[in-house]
Amino acid sequence: MHQASNYNLREEIKEYWSMRAATFDEQPGHEIFSETERVAWHALFERHFGKGDGRKALDLASGTGVISHLMHDLGFAVTGMDWSEAMLEKARAKSKQRGSKIRFLLGDAERTLEDDDSYDVIITRHLVWTLVDPVAAFTEWFRVLKPGGKLLIVDGDFVSPTWATKLNKALAGLFERLGMRKPVAAVPHMQTHHDILARVHFSDGARADEVSKMLRQIGFDPIAVDFNLKKIHSAQKKHISLAKGLERGAQHRYAICAQKPLVD
Ligand SMILES: C[S@@+](CC[C@H](N)C(=O)[O-])C[C@H]1O[C@@H](n2cnc3c(N)ncnc32)[C@H](O)[C@@H]1O
Repeated sequence: MHQASNYNLREEIKEYWSMRAATFDEQPGHEIFSETERVAWHALFERHFGKGDGRKALDLASGTGVISHLMHDLGFAVTGMDWSEAMLEKARAKSKQRGSKIRFLLGDAERTLEDDDSYDVIITRHLVWTLVDPVAAFTEWFRVLKPGGKLLIVDGDFVSPTWATKLNKALAGLFERLGMRKPVAAVPHMQTHHDILARVHFSDGARADEVSKMLRQIGFDPIAVDFNLKKIHSAQKKHISLAKGLERGAQHRYAICAQKPLVD
């Protein structure tokens, strides 16, 4: 019974992202909208991984290939993996248009089917918050990393209300009551988003300390949490509303770098 409901949840997540693939890159925070943002992402990745030098990188839940391309810019030999065909189609078209040699594969981040000890680095942005079974996923990533290889998780708690969420809500209500603003229609996919979120592992939000604890239990060591994402967020803010920018800045967003220990 439990397995059947999990299976359905995975299918629903897949369908949800496939439905969002067509317009995914239109949103700041997904595709890169300025050179300043691109430089800030490169700096984050270089800070944890160093230069690519042809080393093998796996971008899990690669979506439309935004992170794969940033890694490719840094000289990594990149494989992107996503379980949504619609997302992969977008990523492959982008790669063809940019002439980047990135291999995009259809696959489940919880069961990649890649060889043991086969990647120098693994990167994943905005996947962990939506994982059904994070322990299975992290165990799998540990397996496919080479000894000494590094994992970089870029994610956040997109659930817990922040001071900015509360302020925006209060102001929106006030402006509506004063007739200064019309009630905003609900975004059609938001209900599906909430339905899925209620059933994933981190339904209360993926906090860095909880994710780090799981990674440690699986054997990653050392683990470093990096909250220095200000330059990325400032660059993104220029392309979103003030309210959204405040919310983004106030959210618990982070990068976690975790290493698979070298064998003696
Ligand atoms: C928020 S998008 C992030 C895309 C990309 N990482 C980025 O940051 O631009 C989430 C992506 O995760 C993919 N996804 C979710 N669960 C997955 C899983 N278990 N295996 C592979 N892909 C998954 C979805 O298909 C979707 O493309």
